[in-house]
Amino acid sequence: AKRFGILTSGGDCPGLNAVIRGAVLKGETVYGHEFVGFKDGWYGLVYGDIMELNRSTVRGLSHEGGTILGTSRFGPYQEPDGGAENIKKVMKNLGIDGVIAIGGEGTASASRRLYEDGINIVGVPKTIDNDLDATDYTFGFNTAVEIATEAIDRLRTTGNSHKRCMVLEVMGRHAGWIALYSGIAGGAHAILIPEQPESLDQICAWVTHVKNRGRAPMVVVAEGFKFPDMGEAYSVKGLDGFNRPRLGGIAEVLAPLIEERTGIETRATVLGHIQRGGVPTAFDRVLATRLGMAITDLCADKGWGKMVALNGTDIVRVDFSDALANQKSVPADQYQEIRVIFG
Ligand code: F6P
Repeated sequence: AKRFGILTSGGDCPGLNAVIRGAVLKGETVYGHEFVGFKDGWYGLVYGDIMELNRSTVRGLSHEGGTILGTSRFGPYQEPDGGAENIKKVMKNLGIDGVIAIGGEGTASASRRLYEDGINIVGVPKTIDNDLDATDYTFGFNTAVEIATEAIDRLRTTGNSHKRCMVLEVMGRHAGWIALYSGIAGGAHAILIPEQPESLDQICAWVTHVKNRGRAPMVVVAEGFKFPDMGEAYSVKGLDGFNRPRLGGIAEVLAPLIEERTGIETRATVLGHIQRGGVPTAFDRVLATRLGMAITDLCADKGWGKMVALNGTDIVRVDFSDALANQKSVPADQYQEIRVIFG
């Protein structure tokens, strides 16, 4: 029997376990494949740290958040022990015929390099941010939108009671999909995303309009949003090289500024990793399970160098390069479509 190793890499995401379950169940049942899991992302592959995966270890997994394999932001070329030649030795020693890497942009780019260096590898796209170009939706995104929408609904009742402006910060450092979808679903009065600058004056004008109508303004802001007059001094670089707001989050920068300029009492909420935790929605479980089952077909066909992806309602195969060509940003016209009713 052929033996495949599965790893999950990068930020975790509801639905990862459903992918693992889908792959193992179909692989065992239809092809007689065997599976192992590499622990903690690429780390497990580089150091040969594995766990057995079979029908009984994946039982009941589709509704469980996180990843039973563990994950990390460790890259396969990162350490002296890393690199394709060492990984080939590890795979040979463990009798592994191919690697299934579930991850986002960083994972796809490492996978492409390993494939070019002669490793049998396939991929499953993952990010709650929904910003991978090769696929219409990534699993985890729908769950994050549900959680953020519920947060808006809850903030609205407390905001209305106190006649306050409520600012909710959601995830998305490069793309505003979670903010856009949850903001539309929750009926936000302004949605602020990294792709579209809006001035503080404009934001305050929307907030004031809403207040003048006797409503409590609701602003949804993606963590990566910046307004043009904000200045750079507010951010610090994290250990992973990304800039993060010095004050906790953009919502915490924005809320006091709105309060100062408009005279409307304003409160900030940073939703944070709550968006990534817990039970995946039915939509994400279905998408993740289908992707997991399709990756087993790709392994059976020796489709190395490719990923599975959602195109409309179909699961298709794409090259790693397709996921890396462009970041999927919110298009200007999709933002304008909703912006006309802000305020
Ligand atoms: O890419 C997914 C994501 O959740 C982003 O939305 C967010 O900016 C980032 O990961 C947070 O990363 P970490 O979990 O390392 O703090």
